[in-house]
Amino acid sequence: MKRRIFLAGLGLSAIATRGYTANAEASARFTHGVASGDPLSDRVILWTRVIPQEAGTALTVYWHVATDQAFAHVVASGQTSASEASDYTIKVDATGLQPNRRYFYRFNARGINSATGTTRTLPDGVATNFTIGVASCSNFPQGFFNAYRHMAETDLDLVLHLGDYIYEYPEAEYANDYAREVLRRSVVPQHEVIALEDYRMRYGLYRTDPDLQALHQRHPFICVWDDHELANDTWREGAENHNEGEGDFQQRIAAARQAYHEWMPIRTPNEGDQGPIYRRFEIGALADLIMLDTRLVGRDRGLEYAQDMLFAPALVGEAPIADVAAFKDQRLNDPTRSLLGQIQEEWLDEALRKSVDRGAVWQVIGQQVLMGSVGIPSISADDLAGTQVPEELRQYIAFMQTLGAHGMPLNLDAWDGYPLCRDRVKAMFSRKNSNPVVLAGDTHNAWAFNLLDDHAQPLGIEIGTPSISSPGMESYLPLPAADLAAALKAASPELSAVDTSQRGWSEISLTPQSMSNR
Ligand SMILES: [Fe+2]
Repeated sequence: MKRRIFLAGLGLSAIATRGYTANAEASARFTHGVASGDPLSDRVILWTRVIPQEAGTALTVYWHVATDQAFAHVVASGQTSASEASDYTIKVDATGLQPNRRYFYRFNARGINSATGTTRTLPDGVATNFTIGVASCSNFPQGFFNAYRHMAETDLDLVLHLGDYIYEYPEAEYANDYAREVLRRSVVPQHEVIALEDYRMRYGLYRTDPDLQALHQRHPFICVWDDHELANDTWREGAENHNEGEGDFQQRIAAARQAYHEWMPIRTPNEGDQGPIYRRFEIGALADLIMLDTRLVGRDRGLEYAQDMLFAPALVGEAPIADVAAFKDQRLNDPTRSLLGQIQEEWLDEALRKSVDRGAVWQVIGQQVLMGSVGIPSISADDLAGTQVPEELRQYIAFMQTLGAHGMPLNLDAWDGYPLCRDRVKAMFSRKNSNPVVLAGDTHNAWAFNLLDDHAQPLGIEIGTPSISSPGMESYLPLPAADLAAALKAASPELSAVDTSQRGWSEISLTPQSMSNR
């Protein structure tokens, strides 16, 4: 009950300031704006949340799609209902639409209109250009979502959200004190998000953000979860942030998945909200957009140097090469380890083959973690002199230098931690007429890679998008950004550019001749 009062209150204040409804006594309230997503050439998912004045009642809700803002030319409409069973969220699949076309949509309950949203269908056949805004890692208690506002004000065909749309942490954990105390970006619930009601409440909080609401209202989304929509460093049977006393892991994940499908404008698969979210979209003859789940459905447990190397207790000092080699051979290069799971690997191979066979120019792969290899940057004790880096981190950096000398990767929680799985995917990329463009989030920093095969020949490119608000590498490695970039590039043959100092988003423009990023 406490939650309902809170959400209703937040919803009202957000709505009142935006002029959607002036009546606080309204018999139905649209509390969190509108959203659209998973467009195809003839349909799109429409989303809203509407609650009745009387608790527990189901509401009949009408929806309309029109070619004009005044709704004089309605081209699709229908009715559905909102109830407690789905937290009063509604999703409809509006069909019978024309390709590559902008539409207006809105909902109505008990005579009250929602905000009007705009959306866009995907092209069919020839497409001369397509522009995607890519986002990831929007952490509410770490600052305003200015980057979302900027995206909302930019002319885009689509927003791709690559995960960490919410964070599951309790109040004051992984938060910025200034944002919490001065900007008043505290979280609800105050405890870590674990149960279904918790996840729902956390989505509800994020969706009160006016910049995020504006972005959903203006553009369709295609999204995938990363770990924080579930729990930090999730894999298929556990998570770093799922601990004693937090109940059954699979029950928690089932709740997280249900809330995700309730609150996100994603087309829920035939299997329901516990089904897979990897899926493929055809952007006319220009591209296929292949969305992967590298986080949950098939991921084997991630390795960690501190936990998984035999000599881990001796963190400081020279790591014997025999042990590094053993770790590499027996753990890292275990051919049975996968980031995708066998079923998704086979699905990806088939999706890429279909794309090339139908003559699509680009294979755009939207997924969570960096595929390009990132080596360990050379950082000496002298480089850290005079910085605020704590002693424990200095020791870890010194330990990592010994691994760097053996060519080990920096981050095992990415494709670098699953190198043989990556080799299998790269073999798929080597198919004739493939033009893969891999998109990644997760790191909070901006990256560009030339993905290379074993003979250093280019197979494709990767763009890693920076975070909307989560802190990047600069927050714990306070070195000049240009120096850090140079050290990362020197250690990483595939890396062509990196910016460790700024928040933001990526704009990917595709034409039949070129792909550009800014
Ligand atoms: Fe993140």
